[in-house]
Amino acid sequence: MMMWNDSFSVSNDEIDNQHKQLIEIIEELAIVIHNKDYSYANIIEIIGRLEDYIKVHFEYEENLMLKYSYPNIEHHTKEHNELRYKMQNMSVFDYNKPDIFYSETLTYLFDWLTKHIMQVDKQLGKYVLELSK
Ligand SMILES: [Fe+2]
Repeated sequence: MMMWNDSFSVSNDEIDNQHKQLIEIIEELAIVIHNKDYSYANIIEIIGRLEDYIKVHFEYEENLMLKYSYPNIEHHTKEHNELRYKMQNMSVFDYNKPDIFYSETLTYLFDWLTKHIMQVDKQLGKYVLELSK
């Protein structure tokens, strides 16, 4: 399981805190899936919270990029849009193969977030830090 650690820091406290919140919600989902607790109420509640928080978090970063005229805004936003699209098209009603569906969803979320934080968000954090020095 992916617990937040210092190697995830993007040198921006607000973004780091938001990432911690996101990881916490994904970990809640991981626990429910690990326990095979596929009850509609649990899954829908957690995924709903995840969607809401992703929206808040992406908007925060995108506003920051606009504010600082970040040169890589297009690529960064494109990556955000990939996850937005994935979330919109996720069907939590897929009860035919819940094991596969939920474990694939979880793997996708962990992989996406890890790669995005390590590669794309770190660049943004560094850029903003340099400008605020
Ligand atoms: Fe981002």
